[in-house]
Amino acid sequence: SVFIIFLALFVTCSFVMFSRLSLTLAALSRGVSTSAQNNARVAVLGASGGIGQPLSLLLKNSPLVSNLTLYDIAHTPGVAADLSHIETRAKVTGFIGPEQLPESLKDAEVVVIPAGVPRKPGMTRDDLFNTNATIVANLTEACAKHCPEAMICIIANPVNSTIPITSEVFKKHDVFNPNHIFGVTTLDIVRANTFIAELKGLDPARVNVPVIGGHAGKTIIPVISQCTPKVEFPQDQLEALTGRIQEAGTEVVKAKAGAGSATLSMAYAGARFVFSLLDAMNGKEGVIECAFVRSEETACPYFSTPLLLGKNGIEKNLGMGKLSAFEEKLVSEAMDELKASIKKGEDFVKGRK
Ligand code: NAD
Ligand code: LMR
Repeated sequence: SVFIIFLALFVTCSFVMFSRLSLTLAALSRGVSTSAQNNARVAVLGASGGIGQPLSLLLKNSPLVSNLTLYDIAHTPGVAADLSHIETRAKVTGFIGPEQLPESLKDAEVVVIPAGVPRKPGMTRDDLFNTNATIVANLTEACAKHCPEAMICIIANPVNSTIPITSEVFKKHDVFNPNHIFGVTTLDIVRANTFIAELKGLDPARVNVPVIGGHAGKTIIPVISQCTPKVEFPQDQLEALTGRIQEAGTEVVKAKAGAGSATLSMAYAGARFVFSLLDAMNGKEGVIECAFVRSEETACPYFSTPLLLGKNGIEKNLGMGKLSAFEEKLVSEAMDELKASIKKGEDFVKGRK
């Protein structure tokens, strides 16, 4: 019986030691991946906000990111200290206040900008223009000066104006590259996929529907006729579904009742877009995302369509593809509002000193 006790002790000790060794190896492999392609330097501007914090968490959790810089006008030292304890290899650094903005952008390859005020019930996205236009112009001006080659992903609303603002700022500094500037509309695609999956009893992860146009009300145009897998709806249900996708942001604003707009789903969508971009920059082929970009696909100088992403940002604009008569009507009905929002953004920068 002494022998059996000894044997049991030996087996238990060996098991514990083996488990600890496996855990240590797993932690090391997570922490010291040295693939040259997985060394992206990403900056988040507005990192302390409702979107900024969960977005930074998702980026910190990614093996694609080696350096994560967090900039905001408040709370970034705390957010950075908190995130920096997570056992992934991305090095997190916090920067606070305009004097630290240039340093936060040094060597950035991708800059994500969720800085700006969110809507309250009763407001349109355009009602945010007065505050957010200045915030985005100042932040992108710093990008044009300190990381002119970086991919710029704008989340701040109104996206239909903040992208033209960003382009004009880059033009002013003579560093404009339309293949590097993206209005992040991924949340519209995420929502469309989810709502269609709910209605058809599908796994949302397997649904993919392009959403084109812009990112406000009727400028958001889901192209349900191009959904994969193919789905069909009676016209009244199609119209209700389209309306729900167009007003999904307002659905969240109302539900949050004054406490802001979508943050968690936006962080997910923003991370999805950044990871797609990083994958494509790393040489992965066939990466496609919709985004609101400089475009020649319609009469609007900016328009969201599926884009083939590559090492240098937009590799190819894949255009709208074949639309149903209903979708064509939605596009033509969106044009006036889109053009006006774009012009408002462009005029804002032209009028600035
Ligand atoms: P929030 O108020 O929670 O956070 C905004 C953050 O920006 C705050 O931490 C604030 O300190 C910071 N900020 C303000 N001015 C700044 C400046 N000059 N420099 C750096 N940081 C600054 O708001 P939120 O819920 O995170 O939303 C942010 C923006 O994203 C809003 O404009 C909102 O409308 C927009 N949004 C866009 C989408 C989309 O699909 N593109 C989805 C959701 C929200
Ligand atoms: C969204 O679509 O959730 C965002 O644009 C935020 C908003 O104001 O609706």
